[in-house]
Amino acid sequence: MGNTEPPCEAPRLRRMSPEDVPIVMAVEQAAYSGGWPVTAFERELTGNGMARYIVLEGTGGGIKGFAGLWLMVDEAHVVTVAVLPEERRQGLGRLLVHGLVELAIEHGMSVATLEVRQSNEAARALYREYGFYEVGERKRYYSDNRENAVIMTTEELRSPAYQRRLEGLATELRRRFPGIEFGDLSDE
Ligand SMILES: CC(C)(COP(=O)(O)OP(=O)(O)OC[C@H]1O[C@@H](n2cnc3c(N)ncnc32)[C@H](O)[C@@H]1OP(=O)(O)O)[C@@H](O)C(=O)NCCC(=O)NCCS
Repeated sequence: MGNTEPPCEAPRLRRMSPEDVPIVMAVEQAAYSGGWPVTAFERELTGNGMARYIVLEGTGGGIKGFAGLWLMVDEAHVVTVAVLPEERRQGLGRLLVHGLVELAIEHGMSVATLEVRQSNEAARALYREYGFYEVGERKRYYSDNRENAVIMTTEELRSPAYQRRLEGLATELRRRFPGIEFGDLSDE
């Protein structure tokens, strides 16, 4: 009665644009120690035809996280997924990974792969939800602390089993974030 509040908007996934880079870099610096220089992001967005990056805007606007992948022939390689520390454990990382997987499928990729630090339990748990499983490791892969990378991959993204998994995850995300869309991330 008499409620003049605007309806609560869903967070929004959209393609990253060059104008987003300063904010994305701030998110990256908060999310990771170290990080890419501005030129690396700009090169990824404008000079790397394989790269696709997305951002997640929160309900009040403002970029809360971002993610990217490379489309490598028939394999989508997840390059990064990052959420602001103060916005974690609310399902935003899941939204970003979901967006990447949908993007990979729209681009006809067969599987998705990635490398993740062995100690990164949070990311490994999130990726496992999306059907990534461990297929090997790269010893002392990360130059800062010589940590091993775990290599993870999915089964065939278009397989009935994977599609069922994705549909279940999408249903859960739509319940949690009414109005969320995953469909407008591919190339214009
Ligand atoms: C990994 C990361 C993106 C997860 O983002 P997030 O928004 O917190 O993730 P979600 O809230 O969607 O979590 C989804 C699931 O992942 C798992 N997870 C997330 N954070 C976790 C943690 N700290 N410990 C254990 N599991 C965790 C849980 O299964 C979680 O589901 P639940 O909250 O229902 O238990 C975030 O921690 C991050 O930005 N980390 C720094 C950057 C990074 O390491 N990126 C990955 C390497 S490329």
